[in-house]
This record gives sequence, structure tokens and C-alpha cells, in this order.
Amino acid sequence: MSGTKDSIKAGVIGWPIEHSRSPAVHRFWLQAYGIDGRYDRFPVQPDALPRFLKDMQAAGIKGVNVTVPHKEAAFQLMDSADEISRRLSAVNTIEVLEDGTLRGSNTDGFGFLENLRHGAPDWQPEKTIATVLGAGGAARAVVAALQADGWNEVRVSNRTEERALKLARDLGPGISVASWEKRGIALQGAELLVNTTTLGMTGSDPLDLDLAALPDQALVNDIVYVPLKTALLSAAAARGLAIVDGLGMLLHQARPGFKAWFGIDPEVTEAQRKYVLEADL
Ligand code: ATR
Repeated sequence: MSGTKDSIKAGVIGWPIEHSRSPAVHRFWLQAYGIDGRYDRFPVQPDALPRFLKDMQAAGIKGVNVTVPHKEAAFQLMDSADEISRRLSAVNTIEVLEDGTLRGSNTDGFGFLENLRHGAPDWQPEKTIATVLGAGGAARAVVAALQADGWNEVRVSNRTEERALKLARDLGPGISVASWEKRGIALQGAELLVNTTTLGMTGSDPLDLDLAALPDQALVNDIVYVPLKTALLSAAAARGLAIVDGLGMLLHQARPGFKAWFGIDPEVTEAQRKYVLEADL
């Protein structure tokens, strides 16, 4: 989709950026809603980030999604930012406002929660205990979203325990840290298990985890979506547990940006899931 000179312009910034599926996510909606818009990949090296953001308005770009490694650095360069991005000191969505100032937001947690809501509509947890594997940027967004959603306790387990402890210090209260060796035990009593590590992703090591301690009503979510059905999700399904795959988080986190730039709150559909999975990168 090349667009016209009047096309509304948006995109995604990262370094590297070739493998981002965000263009497929947004181009599907542009087509579906018949919007004269473009959504491009912008490769931006770390030292070029301030210049790129400064020049966005002059370039006629309404806003961008932000991915690795720019989420924290971009946050520091915003004129204003929503509460959740301030809590995380990281943005994934930027809007150029009418007056030319930049507003940052972080929609990863929204995408995570919406994915669970749409992917498991019958799952009605009491929101007692959730266990989260990992302590990177994705884990931070997930933990903050669970706190905002009213969960009593979020247990975090990460290979590098110091990182989990820092996450708990930064985002506490209500966060406990379980050692990586005891991650199986950390599943006891949990109504939700989320894998935010890269383990299980195509090309990465497998996630070694015994699900025996998870209660029968627990939901298992993997934010890895390549493959769509990870070994973790297969093992959970084999145990009869409810599962939600990770693709929906990518799709739902994109909704607020699309609405801000292109003016429509878009719907995530099965057709879009298929399109994004099969898109040539
Ligand atoms: P993101 O910001 O996307 O969450 P990240 O910061 O690179 O990405 O985090 C990747 C997560 O996967 C981390 O929790 C990482 O654990 P460490 O903090 O110990 O690095 C986890 N991870 C990656 N490879 C792993 C491995 N082989 N075993 C255990 N955990 C691993």
C-alpha cells in the first residue's frame, strides 16, 4: 500500500526493524476500514532517535509504535506521557499532538489484558495469585497490568533473580519473587501463568517447567507467538487447562495507536490473525 500525498502516515521505529509484524497488523486494518493511510517500518539507530522524533511532525508522521531498543529512551524524550508509561518509564506508542508536542503511552499491558479477555471469555478468576516468568520489559508491562487489574499477588520468577527483585522494588507492593529453580513450586495456587521469557520461541531454548502444581482452573498464557502453540501451551492443553496464545497481545496493543492516528477503534478478528501470521516479513 503506497498511499497518496494526503495519506495519514504512521509506522514503527526500532533497530533492527525488518522483522516487525506491526506493519501487517496496521495495514490489515487500513485496508479493512478503507482508510487512506500508510504504516511503514522506520529503522532508527539509537543515536538517531532524538532527531527522528523531533522531525516527525515536519515529515507529516502522525505517530509511531516503538520497539526494541527504544522504549525507555523514547519515554525520556516525550513532552507528556500516560500514567502507565510513567510507571514503566517506557513507551510503545507515540502520538504527535496538534500543537506538535509528543505524547507517549504504553499499551502493552492493555494488549495483554484484552488478549486474555477475548481469548478466554469464560475465565473468571478471583484474582488471587498470578505467576509471571521473566523480568524484562514485557514482564514489567504484564505485572503492572495485573496490579492495575486488581490481582492480590503477582509472583515473579526469573533466571537472573536480581532483575526480578528490581522489578518488585520498582513496581511493588503485591509482588513476590520466586527463585528460578523453584519456578514449578511458584505455580501453587496460581490462577494464571504467563511466560514472558523468550524460552519456547523458535530458535530459542525450550522452557523447562513442570505444570503439575497449577490448579485445574488456571489459565496459561504465553506471550511468545512464534510458534503460535508453544510447547508450554501444548502441555497446558494436554493437562486440560485453558490456554491463550500470544498473538492477540500484539494485535490488541496496536488498537490505541491505530485509533489515535487513523481515527477508528479497530476490531481484532480471526481474518487479521491469519493475515498477520502469514505476512511476508
Ligand atoms: P523483553 O524486554 O522483550 O521482555 P528481555 O529483557 O530480553 O526482553 O527479557 C527476556 C527474558 O527472557 C528475561 O526474563 C530473560 O531472563 P534473564 O533476565 O535472566 O536474562 C529470559 N530468558 C532469556 N533466555 C533465557 C534462558 N535461556 N533461560 C532463562 N530465561 C531466559
